[in-house]
Amino acid sequence: MSVASAAEQAFRSTHGTEPAGLWAAPGRVNLIGEHTDYNDGFVLPFAIPQQTVAAVAPFAGPGWTITSDLVNETVSFETTGPGEVQGWAGYVAGIVWALQDAGFDVPPARIALSSDVPLGSGLSSSAALESAVLTALTDLGGFDLPVAARPGLAQRAENVYVGAPTGIMDQSASIRCEQGKALFLDCRSLEVEQIPFDLAAEGLAILIINSNAPHQHVDGEYGARRKSCEEGARILGVPALRDVTPDELDEALAKIDDEVIRRRVRHIVTEDQRVLDTVDLLRAGRAREIGPLLTASHVSMRDDFEITVDQVDVAVEAALASGAYGARMTGGGFGGCVLALIDTDKAETTTAAIEMAYEQRGFTAPTIWPATPAQGARKL
Ligand code: GLA
Repeated sequence: MSVASAAEQAFRSTHGTEPAGLWAAPGRVNLIGEHTDYNDGFVLPFAIPQQTVAAVAPFAGPGWTITSDLVNETVSFETTGPGEVQGWAGYVAGIVWALQDAGFDVPPARIALSSDVPLGSGLSSSAALESAVLTALTDLGGFDLPVAARPGLAQRAENVYVGAPTGIMDQSASIRCEQGKALFLDCRSLEVEQIPFDLAAEGLAILIINSNAPHQHVDGEYGARRKSCEEGARILGVPALRDVTPDELDEALAKIDDEVIRRRVRHIVTEDQRVLDTVDLLRAGRAREIGPLLTASHVSMRDDFEITVDQVDVAVEAALASGAYGARMTGGGFGGCVLALIDTDKAETTTAAIEMAYEQRGFTAPTIWPATPAQGARKL
């Protein structure tokens, strides 16, 4: 059954009526630009076909009732403030709160959710959930909320309501990505450029390797990275690390005594440049050549930002050894997914090589599939 049918069915069986409509929002893969978003830098994600669908109908109220077929649970609330609704439903309540806080009169609604975005895998299942609900409530309420302003609102739900100090990339990807394109986002100006990303035309594919080593943002590591970056910017006297260019990097590093902060700063400054270089190559139709940039990004995340784990390092090494042009962990880190750029006809060889490497190391088997750039949030 499709995710849309599952959401519709969940709505019917919970409420005994039909939803007014179905709204979908995808998960994402980040091609390159990791942890650069909250440093006002550059990112290049694309949406994946896996999505969350919200079946929604207004009702007399008061309040909101949310059902998820993933957990088989129904949660209701009438008014809400940061942190009041916990767990998965907190992301939905967070969107209601963020809309209200921005001055919108959110209509009471019944919401049934279904999703096939893998949870806790660095593919932004939470942003997909937030974005589906935000798009639905915005449509139902008839709000004048430009698409470019929506990711920031969803990010507030996550930062202030849920309490996870994440950047703006995931919600931007889920809301603003277009089919067949990668989203080049300047996280300071919020300007976007849709970069054509039709790999199949060049005989290329991106494999997603879910390491099945689960990650967690709400734990301290993500926040600790963010703090180190902010401290680095403070020491260097710049608004954000985005303001340090690669040419200025050596001089900047010499001003920082703390070895850990130095490494974090180096990752961000070099990663921003790798995003710009990747975009240049893609604009020139030279996708095959982005491989070394992807791999350099991984090395930087492993050695300087220190956010990888054995499972993702092994997947990257095995992919490269089997002939991938480049490979890197994608997403917040500490587990999650790896992406590998390969020739289309190498998919089986690379898959088998990674599976074998996992078996040899005694890791839980990975899940591997090819990714195609999909459409962002929309009414179905
Ligand atoms: C998570 C966060 C994003 C971003 C990435 C790392 O996905 O939600 O804002 O910081 O990690 O690039």
